[in-house]
Amino acid sequence: MSTKDWLHALPKAELHMHIEGSLEPAMMLELARRNRVSLPYPDIDSIIKAYNFNCLQDFLDIYYQGMSVLLTDEDFHDLTWAYLLRCQADNVVHTEIFFDPQGHTERGVAFATVIDGITTALDRGRAELGISSRLIMCFLRHLDEDSAFRTLEEALPWRERIAGVGLDSSERGHPPAKFQRVFAAAGREGFRRVAHAGEEGPPEYVREALDLLRVERIDHGNRALEDPALVARLAELGIPLTVCPQSNLRLAVIDDMRHHPIRDMLQAGLRATVNSDDPAYFGGYVNDNFDALIDAIDLQRGELLQLVVNSFEASFLPAAEIRDHVARVRAEA
Ligand code: ADE
Ligand code: ZN
Repeated sequence: MSTKDWLHALPKAELHMHIEGSLEPAMMLELARRNRVSLPYPDIDSIIKAYNFNCLQDFLDIYYQGMSVLLTDEDFHDLTWAYLLRCQADNVVHTEIFFDPQGHTERGVAFATVIDGITTALDRGRAELGISSRLIMCFLRHLDEDSAFRTLEEALPWRERIAGVGLDSSERGHPPAKFQRVFAAAGREGFRRVAHAGEEGPPEYVREALDLLRVERIDHGNRALEDPALVARLAELGIPLTVCPQSNLRLAVIDDMRHHPIRDMLQAGLRATVNSDDPAYFGGYVNDNFDALIDAIDLQRGELLQLVVNSFEASFLPAAEIRDHVARVRAEA
């Protein structure tokens, strides 16, 4: 069996995927038609042509425009269900999904609409596909602290359905420090904490995420590698990094997949995981991201197995479920 086939067949978890980033061009056009939203694209080819990014902000501008077609709970259900079917195809048996409530409430879509649609699909995913999930609500870091606090307030009635809070959007110029108080408040409400850091921002932002936001995982974290003392600290604390190879390439965090640092991360003792970030925009889902690494840097089965085991161990599942998943992965590997 080829290494790719072997990897594809292993059960795995995904810990870094923005549900709005799984909006495929065909569904974008269909929802635009259904909701009478006008888009600047006549067809799928012209959408794909627009996906030409030189940096994170180039992508975010298109990403926020894309999500303008999402208006009803049915839209959020259909989006989430389509992603869960891709999970099934990739043998992703557990997924921790980011969503960006402010991307919707700021344009007049109710928080309840977003969460109803997503959770209806997640419940169906559990019942019909056997896929477990958690939801992580991200604050948009280009917006202010007041907006983040209002969003946290809106989330409280849904506390049972939202496992944690995260931080995403434009990293440069928006340090984690800006959200220290809202993360502290979220922690007091019992939410788990993660944050994007070190994607484009400096290692200092990774330190702030640890020290000021008290996060349990770092999303991306690539630039932590510039700071050996920080690497040693992340390794010692066992802080997972949710790494997104195809995103890194498409957003020019790396210049070539052959230079992807995932092997360096593993060799430094970091708990790296492989994830798709925004699969509809960056060229693929989890298995595609693994395949890109296998092609570019010839990751070996031992390394791949470590990444898959890490995906469960870094999850927010209860310890007993993690143990069962890891045992199954090792038995099947
Ligand atoms: N929102 C969606 N994808 C993102 C990424 N890769 N970085 C920051 N914010 C995002
Ligand atoms: Zn992300």
